[in-house]
Amino acid sequence: MPETDAYWMQRAIELAKQGEGYVEPNPMVGAVVLDRDGICCGEGWHEEFGGPHAEVNALATAGSRAAGGTLYVTLEPCHHHGKTPPCTSAVETTGISRVVIGCLDPAKHQQETGADYLRSRGIEVTSGVLEAEAAALIAPFRTLMTAGRPFVHGKWAMSLDGRIATRTRHSQWITGPDARLVGHQIRGRMDAVLVGIGTVLHDDPLLTARPPGIRTATRVVLDSQARLPLDSHLVKTNKEAPVLLFVSETAEQQRVQQLEEAGVTVVRISNDAHWHVDIEHVLKELGTRQMTNVLVEGGSSVLGSLWDRDLIDEVHVFVAPKIIGGSEALGPVGGVGRDKVPDITSLRGMNMQLVGEDVYLHGRVGRS
Ligand SMILES: NC(=O)c1ccc[n+]([C@@H]2O[C@H](COP(=O)([O-])OP(=O)(O)OC[C@H]3O[C@@H](n4cnc5c(N)ncnc54)[C@H](OP(=O)(O)O)[C@@H]3O)[C@@H](O)[C@H]2O)c1
Repeated sequence: MPETDAYWMQRAIELAKQGEGYVEPNPMVGAVVLDRDGICCGEGWHEEFGGPHAEVNALATAGSRAAGGTLYVTLEPCHHHGKTPPCTSAVETTGISRVVIGCLDPAKHQQETGADYLRSRGIEVTSGVLEAEAAALIAPFRTLMTAGRPFVHGKWAMSLDGRIATRTRHSQWITGPDARLVGHQIRGRMDAVLVGIGTVLHDDPLLTARPPGIRTATRVVLDSQARLPLDSHLVKTNKEAPVLLFVSETAEQQRVQQLEEAGVTVVRISNDAHWHVDIEHVLKELGTRQMTNVLVEGGSSVLGSLWDRDLIDEVHVFVAPKIIGGSEALGPVGGVGRDKVPDITSLRGMNMQLVGEDVYLHGRVGRS
């Protein structure tokens, strides 16, 4: 591949991905610096929340060679004081003469943007290079900034005939140990793992990442009537990872109090038209807690509620070479569903991987 703007932006995108799980609620960002002769002299990425931004790290490795050079950065340099000083000042100070940006910052902090400021200082700015790829990198950050809710990952393990449980609601385990390990790795970079009370009552899951990952996800249960058993694995392990229970305004106060005394955080929330806790309010509440990525592990009713409201952004599906059969066995996404084939939402950027004997498919919902 010739060393074009797209080539260097691709490199910056690869660097950015190393921040996944470490930087949230900040976005993943990567940067590359070329000297005035077009030789790469600096690379960097945003490594951890609160730490220096990608362009500052890349410029630091370039040192004096940055003067007169080009900076490639996947996200528009910030132009405000946050946890760190504005990156635009750092860029200006080094004498960089050109800045190439992947995508613009969706978070509007002030009137003058980073790109505007750099141009006003006589620096050439090109934006929109590999824009779709750069924007995909910051999708969770953008969702939190613009919709005020976390990016929602839907996950399930199913048989070849599309069932997540038998007709008796037995589901452990449909997939093999390799696929389950990938599932644990996904949990390990999430802010929350969410299920409905149906799954807890049937499976008594732990919902922790084993082995532990980069982050410890809060375990969230939607449980309108506060039915979560006090002797469930979730309650008994609440010192290992927090448990956050969403109950309706009518849940029995005595039950709520018992759960709180057992260490569970209980939040009362309004009901939807079906007398379940309102899932949109739940997501907003998680957003106010700065949760950027939430993994919804089911069951069918909860995934259906989300899908019907267009609230799933990415899916992770594990397919086992097994047939469960039975018209009453459970499919992964309940709710109402779509009426007509043209109304069906396609996923894009699908990836497929063989893990042990199972297939792991993941991709994003069209609009994400
Ligand atoms: N293979 C897999 O990957 C997998 C993963 C998970 C589960 N499963 C299986 O799926 C089955 C459980 O699925 P399920 O559909 O019966 O239960 P579920 O989706 O886990 O939980 C449904 C319950 O959650 C509560 N809820 C609260 N707010 C809700 C909302 N906004 N939308 C929907 N539900 C809400 C409702 O009870 P309240 O009204 O009392 O709040 C509802 O009955 C089990 O058999 C389990 O083994 C399989």
